[in-house]
Amino acid sequence: MLTDNLILDKINAYIDALPFDRKPQSLYEPIRYVLSIGGKRIRPTLALLAYNLFKNDPESILAPACGLETYHNYTLLHDDLMDNAALRRGKPTVHKRWDANTAILSGDSMLVLAYQLVAKCDAQKLKPVMELFTETALEIGEGQQYDMDFEHRNDVTEDEYIEMIRLKTSVLLACAMKMGAILADAPAKDADLLYKFGEQIGLAFQLQDDFLDVYGDSEVFGKAIGGDIVSNKKTYMLINAFNKANDEQRKELQQWVNQQHGDPQKKITAITKLYNDMQIDKMAERRIEHYFECGKRYLDEVNVPAERKVNLINYALKMMNRKY
Ligand code: IPE
Ligand code: IPE
Ligand code: MG
Ligand code: MG
Ligand code: MG
Repeated sequence: MLTDNLILDKINAYIDALPFDRKPQSLYEPIRYVLSIGGKRIRPTLALLAYNLFKNDPESILAPACGLETYHNYTLLHDDLMDNAALRRGKPTVHKRWDANTAILSGDSMLVLAYQLVAKCDAQKLKPVMELFTETALEIGEGQQYDMDFEHRNDVTEDEYIEMIRLKTSVLLACAMKMGAILADAPAKDADLLYKFGEQIGLAFQLQDDFLDVYGDSEVFGKAIGGDIVSNKKTYMLINAFNKANDEQRKELQQWVNQQHGDPQKKITAITKLYNDMQIDKMAERRIEHYFECGKRYLDEVNVPAERKVNLINYALKMMNRKY
């Protein structure tokens, strides 16, 4: 069985060896750029770890697994444009280093390349794999649209937020788990349990991302801090700050949310202080822990010997302690 570190080496070697030797260079250069500046490679790692629960040759699914990573990176190119983010993995985003049109078109091509790689799976599994991937990709678009729609709404509930992050983020982690299971000929019941596991740790993962967007260290996180606050993202933290606020705090929060043209840094500092005063950080941490525990319960039910689950559990624990 392979540890997550060995798996990561194999994934990076596979991605580094992708040729991208088509023309024009101006289309493929940004693709090579974003795939070469790091990233945790969580989705392909989960796919190989899931496969490895059942079978011993996880290298055999590197193509579809790296297809998921290519797909994820495509969503980042478009997401950074939509979120007006200047920094990704500590480097300028594609629309900053090049321009918006480059991010759109290179992103589109990455989506196609992702399909090409996923389709390099075992031919006998092509149909269920493609159905899973396509449904997932549609859901992610839906989640991203809710994320944008919510920027302009002030009545977003916590349940709506959870459903939005399930769609934009969780389903891809869930898809990676289930794809690994399908490709390993796992029983349908186990494949579905692993999907559920991925979905729950995916919720924890996006909550953590929102937490780090406020409380992370930009150098380590690789993204600018406070971007979600500036663009009025309806995160777990903002929603619960509104729920917990007294009249005075609610008024202040609302004023900052309504602010159109002020100094973004002032807004970040003020809203972060309100979060601290209301201990929203503690609330978020408890919630992250909750979804992680829910995920583990699904994994417990998967019908393989406990020792085969060790690598996956260790990796999930690492994910939960991340700072970037
Ligand atoms: C960032 O994903 C986007 C989210 C869904 C939160 P990751 O945190 O997995 O980003 P990389 O690939 O490691 O850079
Ligand atoms: C990203 O959510 C989800 C997808 C890319 C589908 P975020 O917008 O929070 O991700 P980051 O923080 O930019 O990585
Ligand atoms: Mg976004
Ligand atoms: Mg973003
Ligand atoms: Mg984020």
